[in-house]
Amino acid sequence: MSRAILKVENVDQRFAGLHALKSVSFELVEGEILGIIGPNGAGKSTLFNAIIGTVPPVSGAIHFEGKNVVGWPTHRIAALGIAKTSQTVQVFDEMTALDNVAVAALLSTASVAAARAAAREELEFWGLQGHAGTLAQDLPLAQRSLLELARAMMLRPRILMVDEVMAGLNEIEVDDILDRLMRVNKERGVSLMVIEHNMRALMKISSQILALDYGAVLTLGKPEEVSRHKRVIEAYLGVE
Ligand SMILES: Nc1ncnc2c1ncn2[C@@H]1O[C@H](COP(=O)(O)OP(=O)(O)OP(=O)(O)O)[C@@H](O)[C@H]1O
Ligand SMILES: [Mg+2]
Repeated sequence: MSRAILKVENVDQRFAGLHALKSVSFELVEGEILGIIGPNGAGKSTLFNAIIGTVPPVSGAIHFEGKNVVGWPTHRIAALGIAKTSQTVQVFDEMTALDNVAVAALLSTASVAAARAAAREELEFWGLQGHAGTLAQDLPLAQRSLLELARAMMLRPRILMVDEVMAGLNEIEVDDILDRLMRVNKERGVSLMVIEHNMRALMKISSQILALDYGAVLTLGKPEEVSRHKRVIEAYLGVE
């Protein structure tokens, strides 16, 4: 039976004169991969920031496992089991890949040795074991993106929110990240929300796609339905 792990209800966000989210409602079914699309400025990252609490919404409710987390500090929401990557890769440049992940692991492990061990395992999952001793600043973009995912997974989330982690990568790199995200979902039981402009990538992994436009939900449905939606084609795919 499908069960909602996250319920977003009538969420509104306003910045000065801008109505950035307009009564956004949707459910994330436990175990599903929800893709999120929309033109630049549609409110996709704003939605993630509202969920994780970095910029709480002005109104509406966000229920995680039945608890309304609106107004909670980000660290408490993260501790409940929601992790997010950012649109611009955020890693500690002057630390090694291993230490980047180990620092995140310290939040959930008892000792530095245990954090390092957990970090090594996580690096391996993302195919970064050969880069453990490399400074983050020396990693190519694809590996930096993978490193950010590895860091996020150290929070042991139930929900992982991924914001444009495939931007700037080539097709082979995109396919590699897609495979690993699908394994996070299938093998590790994490529900995913994935913001991505790469429609081919999203179609491949998503069970549902949410399309935002001007802060409002344009449509929510199966990838093949959403990709045929007239307004999605006009607003997002840029076809006249
Ligand atoms: N903290 C903020 N203060 C003021 N305005 C903001 C803030 N965050 C976002 N905005 C504005 O809200 C709108 C939605 O921005 P958002 O970053 O959510 O878009 P997006 O869908 O993620 O776009 P992109 O695909 O370019 O990443 C934009 O007009 C943006 O300038
Ligand atoms: Mg964005």
